[in-house]
Amino acid sequence: MRHLIDIQDLSVEEVDELIHTAEDIIENPEKYAEACRGRKLATLFFEPSTRTRLSFEAAMLDLGGRTLGFSDAATSSASKGETVGDTVQVVSCYADIIAMRHPKEGAPFAAAQVSRVPIINAGDGGHNHPTQTLTDLLTIHRERGDLNNLTIGFCGDLKFGRTVHSLVSALSRYTGIQFIFIAPNELRIPDYVKENTLDPLHLPYREVESMEEAMPELDVLYMTRVQKERFFNEADYLRLRDTYILDPAKLAAAKPEMRILHPLPRVNEITVDVDKDPRACYFKQVANGKFIRMALIMKLLEVHA
Ligand code: CP
Repeated sequence: MRHLIDIQDLSVEEVDELIHTAEDIIENPEKYAEACRGRKLATLFFEPSTRTRLSFEAAMLDLGGRTLGFSDAATSSASKGETVGDTVQVVSCYADIIAMRHPKEGAPFAAAQVSRVPIINAGDGGHNHPTQTLTDLLTIHRERGDLNNLTIGFCGDLKFGRTVHSLVSALSRYTGIQFIFIAPNELRIPDYVKENTLDPLHLPYREVESMEEAMPELDVLYMTRVQKERFFNEADYLRLRDTYILDPAKLAAAKPEMRILHPLPRVNEITVDVDKDPRACYFKQVANGKFIRMALIMKLLEVHA
């Protein structure tokens, strides 16, 4: 039985295979409409979500399966003190696969130790978000045709932004990747990402505070929201939340073929008039999220079209 807790749980070949399957699903959705007939996906969301939970549910429905779960820990027996381990042992009696989001880092890993069915990490605290990473990789692949040889700028809350940590880890296994981390001092990329991923592989990266300085070099600009829910005090959040606001004037310095990604939700960091720029890919990214999750569910359930 396979779980997906960290993007490194999948080999590069498996990631490439998932991208290939997702692209086939996009072209031939009818081929996959019965692939999970009779199977159930449980979504256990102890933290808010729009895209991840609904795209998982849409993915299972489009594979012919069914879904159950909760979207608020307050409506589950976690509110009475039930542990994650006990919750997962219970739900694995009712479902064939579980997607779990939890505010505590490592909670999906702990769940996987006791689960009788595959566990998918749908975001754990400020740590990892591997299925967002699969979504991001599919989007970059569809936009550029290749995951190698690109300069990517990560901008915003690189400290708490779990999508950043997972995507850096994933891209570290491709060739010719240059990382530019654009963040204020308080929200810099964590040392553990540099020490565990970038430094051992001698990957080129630099840290800057100016978005304008990095813009002309970038093939991909990965914007992120300042993660209000991870701050210890509101004053720091208010001071930092509008550090970077991408607008058409700033985009004037970007390459015509640059692509703008954002895992969403956005708050203020991309103005709505950027949405009509052909370089803006964040709503395509949302759509891609369902297709790559369909491919992942099939892989972990070991079913074929
Ligand atoms: N990208 C993402 O994780 O969005 P949600 O929080 O809406 O699931």
